[in-house]
This record gives sequence, structure tokens and C-alpha cells, in this order.
Amino acid sequence: MTDAVLIDGKAFAAQLREAIGRRAATLKAEHGLVPGLAAVLVGEDPASQVYVRNKEKQTVEAGMASVGRRLPADVSEADLMTVVAELNADPAVHGILVQLPLPDHIAEKPVIEMIDVAKDVDGFHPLNVGALSSGEEGLVPCTPRGCMMLLHDVLGDLTGMNAVVVGRSNIVGKPIAQLLLAANCTVTIAHSRTKDLPGLCRSADILIAAVGRPQMIKGDWIKPGAAVIDVGINRIEAEGGKTRLVGDVDFEEAVQVAGSITPVPGGVGPMTIACLLENTLIACCRQNGVEVPEG
Ligand code: GUN
Repeated sequence: MTDAVLIDGKAFAAQLREAIGRRAATLKAEHGLVPGLAAVLVGEDPASQVYVRNKEKQTVEAGMASVGRRLPADVSEADLMTVVAELNADPAVHGILVQLPLPDHIAEKPVIEMIDVAKDVDGFHPLNVGALSSGEEGLVPCTPRGCMMLLHDVLGDLTGMNAVVVGRSNIVGKPIAQLLLAANCTVTIAHSRTKDLPGLCRSADILIAAVGRPQMIKGDWIKPGAAVIDVGINRIEAEGGKTRLVGDVDFEEAVQVAGSITPVPGGVGPMTIACLLENTLIACCRQNGVEVPEG
């Protein structure tokens, strides 16, 4: 069997960001509106700092306004809530994201619920979660949306396909299962208690790996020709005392069996921020009662 088609999320995301930049320019020219995205970062977690910096940089590159709020790791939940309330009330801010994880002394749920549902560009607010599961208009979580775009690009119509999602997180596993269902797939969500996980994975035409376990999914778990979307980003030790990033799929094995596969890095990762920018554009248009410009 020949190697799988590599799904180039990096290139796809770059094109998507360019298109979003053009759409933002149209919005400005026709309505004088500049979408604004506020990123709230609590503490100094290095990975979160990198994510937020990238989000801010790409927001500006797409012609949107970026509002940064950096808060110390020991900020009180009440003070964080006050910052969110200020951003909710700011008409120049159309999208708000609070970078997760938060420090242990702050509960995530009340903070997420505090974000104005119309500005919840992460799609984590319970009302957006409900909208997704009942097929109503809302804001859809970014990583799952990015995965769906890549799948449609490589497979076209997904109707009737068997999709197995490994991982049941609120951020990826559950919302992507909803999106696959809405795209007429037959969907199974697998997790750490699933019986015969390798056998179940082998039934998948579409396999989504979102467990956070480095290289857990082996080549012989994959149905020949399947589309494999690897959402995992794990840092492991490499030779010479260095580290490297790997996904939840054993790429070297899987690439010999799958029909198409996302690499790590350069697969799903870049799609998340591109979808965040698109959600911000959409949120801005809805808040102002104007049509979302086409790409
Ligand atoms: N931490 C890891 N991924 C995400 C994400 O998509 N959004 C937010 N807010 N925090 C994250």
C-alpha cells in the first residue's frame, strides 16, 4: 500500500486566514466595522503564552483588532470576572477568549458562563454547546470546526461514513462528534473504558484522535484507506536530550495504512486559530446585524 495523502493543515489555514483578511476588509469598507478579539491570559504558563501570542499576531495580520489582557497567576476569580464583564460591555470587542487552563484556585465553569454568549468565540458557553447539539445557530468550537474543514476538503461529502472519535473532552471530542453527526456520519465516541478500542478504531472510515496520549493509536488500529485526523499535540523526549512534538497517532505506522492523515505539527493545530478568527468575524457581523461577507 502506498503512503497516505498528507493533509496540509498549515497551508489550508494560511489560505483560510487570507480569505478572512479579505472578508474583514470588505466588512470595514462596507460597514466601517473592525472585528475585535480579546484574549485573556492568566498567569505565565509557557505553552499558553505561545498560543495567545500567536492568536494576537494572526488577529492583527487578518486586519482585526486585538485586545490583550494579562492577569497575574494569583488574580482572584472576582477580579477575573470583572475583566470579563468589562469586555462583555465593550462594543469594540466582538470575541472574547479566556485561555485555558486557568490556575487551580479559579473554577473554569463560572468564568466561561460569564462570557457573553454572542462573544464566546471558543464556543464553550453552555448555550453554544446546546445550540450545537440541537442544530441551532451559535458559535462552534474552533478545533472541531477546523477538523471538519479538513475532512470535507479531502473526502467531500461525509454521508454514511463510520466515524470514531477517540476522546470525550468538552473542547474537542464531544463537539466534533456533534459536527460529524450533523454531516450524516454514523458516530461512535470512544474513551478510556471502551472495550476493544483497536477493533473499534479499525471500523472507522474517519478516525479522530483526541486523547492526549502520545502515539497511542497504532498502524494496525487503522482501517486501510481511512482518513485519520490527529488532534493530539504532545511533547516527548527525543534523542540528544531534546524534545519533539508528536500526535496521539503513531504517524510512522499510520501513514502506511491510512488513505489520508494530518501530520503533527502542521495538521489540525494551525486550523484552530484560523477558525477563531472566522468566529470573531461572524460574531462581529451578528452583533451588528449585518451579513457575513463571503470568502
Ligand atoms: N487551551 C487549549 N486550547 C484552547 C482553546 O481552544 N481555547 C482556549 N480558550 N483555551 C485553550
